[in-house]
Amino acid sequence: MGIAVLGTGGGARAHIAKLAELGHEVHVGTRDPRATLARTEPDMMGNPPFGAWLADHPGIQMHTFADAAERAAELVISGIDGHNAVAALSAAAEQLATKTLVDYAVPYIYNPDLEHPWPTPWGTMPKLDPCDTDSLAERIQRALPRTKVVKAFVTQEQDTVVDPKGVGAGEHTMFIAGEHTDAKAAVTDLLKAYGWTDILDLGPLVSARGMEMYAHMHSAIGFALGFGTHFGIKVVR
Ligand SMILES: NC(=O)c1ccc[n+]([C@@H]2O[C@H](COP(=O)([O-])OP(=O)(O)OC[C@H]3O[C@@H](n4cnc5c(N)ncnc54)[C@H](OP(=O)(O)O)[C@@H]3O)[C@@H](O)[C@H]2O)c1
Repeated sequence: MGIAVLGTGGGARAHIAKLAELGHEVHVGTRDPRATLARTEPDMMGNPPFGAWLADHPGIQMHTFADAAERAAELVISGIDGHNAVAALSAAAEQLATKTLVDYAVPYIYNPDLEHPWPTPWGTMPKLDPCDTDSLAERIQRALPRTKVVKAFVTQEQDTVVDPKGVGAGEHTMFIAGEHTDAKAAVTDLLKAYGWTDILDLGPLVSARGMEMYAHMHSAIGFALGFGTHFGIKVVR
């Protein structure tokens, strides 16, 4: 089944590689495929240029965001930077209509000017916007009313999302939220194919507020455990 992954960052790459391994036809979306392939510098997270990465992953097709969404049979994963996601996805609204869109972005504003900054090993902690009274996922759903938005994956590094058994033998929890039962079922199927066994449906998309705000807690745990330590969280009941 054709699945689109909109994005070329580290998280998107994890999904692209895993979906290809699972035998899916993967369509990657980027702003400008030629410009993306021409890059020679690592991205802001230090990932190698996408073209170099792609050379090790033959058979992956690249398109604009809209063309990749068009080619998806049903499922589209958005790995577009959270601050720019609403605008970029709105430009592909026609191609995304009726489809399931998984949003895993954090609505980070990088290098914020804050009265009380949070120093981190890599600079000031980004600010969340929207936060508390709205969420990125809800904004995407309002901007794309014909698309079935599901918030998922966001509480984990994407390398762990596609390989949950790599942490604690998979004994941790993945969360999903959204307004569309059939879309959440499709995302649940994908998560099971990735190896997840504890998938907690948090109900309506408003729950995405909590999922996105968890980003700061995820960072705090990561700093406590040491940079690069992979971990998960388990809801014990
Ligand atoms: N990486 C993870 O493990 C992880 C985990 C949880 C949450 N998240 C969140 O998920 C989101 C994506 O993360 P990521 O690591 O996969 O990638 P990322 O490096 O945060 O974002 C890269 C993508 O955003 C697009 N982009 C950047 N600026 C844009 C603009 N002005 N207009 C349109 N598109 C733009 C880029 O397009 P081009 O392809 O054209 O360059 C690229 O595809 C982020 O919000 C991140 O915080 C990531």
